Amino acid sequence: MGNIEKNLLEETAAWVDEERAKTDRVQKPWDVWIDAELGLRNHWYPAALSRQIEEGGFKAITLLGENILLTRQDGKLYALEDRCPHRGVRFSARPLCYTKETLTCWYHTFTFNLDDGNLRTILNEPESPMIGKVQIKSYPLEELKGVVFAFVGDISPPPVGHDVAPGFLDDDAVVYSAEPYVIDANWRLACENGYDPGHQFIHNWSPFSIKNEIPMSFGWVSNKESVLRTTTYFDSDDGPKGFTRKAAETNIVQEAVIPMNDGSLVEVKLPAAEGKSREELNEIAQYAHSCEVGLWMPCMLKVDPWPADPAIHFESYVPRDSTSHTYFQFGVLKTNDKAEADEWMNRRAHEEWEIPTVEDFTIDDAFARKELQKFYSEEDGWKRERLYRPDIELTMWRKFVTKHARGVQTTDHTKGFFSRKDRE
Ligand code: FES
Ligand SMILES: [Fe+2]
Repeated sequence: MGNIEKNLLEETAAWVDEERAKTDRVQKPWDVWIDAELGLRNHWYPAALSRQIEEGGFKAITLLGENILLTRQDGKLYALEDRCPHRGVRFSARPLCYTKETLTCWYHTFTFNLDDGNLRTILNEPESPMIGKVQIKSYPLEELKGVVFAFVGDISPPPVGHDVAPGFLDDDAVVYSAEPYVIDANWRLACENGYDPGHQFIHNWSPFSIKNEIPMSFGWVSNKESVLRTTTYFDSDDGPKGFTRKAAETNIVQEAVIPMNDGSLVEVKLPAAEGKSREELNEIAQYAHSCEVGLWMPCMLKVDPWPADPAIHFESYVPRDSTSHTYFQFGVLKTNDKAEADEWMNRRAHEEWEIPTVEDFTIDDAFARKELQKFYSEEDGWKRERLYRPDIELTMWRKFVTKHARGVQTTDHTKGFFSRKDRE
């Protein structure tokens, strides 16, 4: 175990209920996480899939509360603020590119450079002194592995590879992308659900577990000792920051009882565990939990392998606005063999990864995240939650992000500040 893990544990463990008496501190030590309702600024995020923006096509997205218009012209992708500085309408309401270099507002003809967002001309007022002085935001983009990554921030962007889970951008990673969808839950709740060691219980109701008769356990329950044994943090400045857990080495709870009023104990079974011996259950647990789970800044989870070797599962919870995120899921095969790569993209990924995972498993994560939303957004959940011991892993993550975030997005960032002068 390293010092990062120990320090994080010491700084945050006092906030789970069992340890509560030992602290009299009022301020939780993860203020950045609490403030980051709209996301972490100065990071790269998956914004769309390459296949969603064809030549000459447009796609309007919301990223960290900012409305952005994506377009592809002459093969090149552009991302511009989706808001006209004249009177604020969305270009995407009726997107218009008369040329491959410009975007024209459908309302009063203000026409902008696609590459830097400068006002190039106004079709009905070409002598306007505003030309060259007014600018909308443009966003750095990188198109990698069929994914369009956008950088939302003010600093010069670090490599995209610092903001995705390790392995995703490797040369031999063959990335199959499921159709992304919007979930009505804040992105932080999604990160926490994805990594939450206690959440595995919800997957006993997932079609994947039922169809394959795989009981998913009552939870992987870590304590202060096991979390240090099973978890590794990575905080080097020249790579992605995040941490991983070896699931099989956590305490996988497969048996449980409910104490009754008369003092007796009633044994409760996982739905798919009925009729299975303890040996069988242990064997299944070894298979089902042999994966390594990692959570990476700003918002990517990696489960390796999942649902079975050789598939690797990646997913991103991209902040959209304060109450929703866009859910990206990727099934990855590592190979340098062209035929095998084609086979993965054309058939195997759908059968071996997409059906068991996207269709039959993570729908329960989406369900759970939505259920968290009201409490956290409207009822002061970040203050009122009563954390239990397995949540230490989540409090460590919150603290880790608080330390390493490059910035926090605020509602001010989402508003229009159009002239170059205003933005300096
Ligand atoms: S609102 Fe866009 S040009 Fe008037
Ligand atoms: Fe899950």
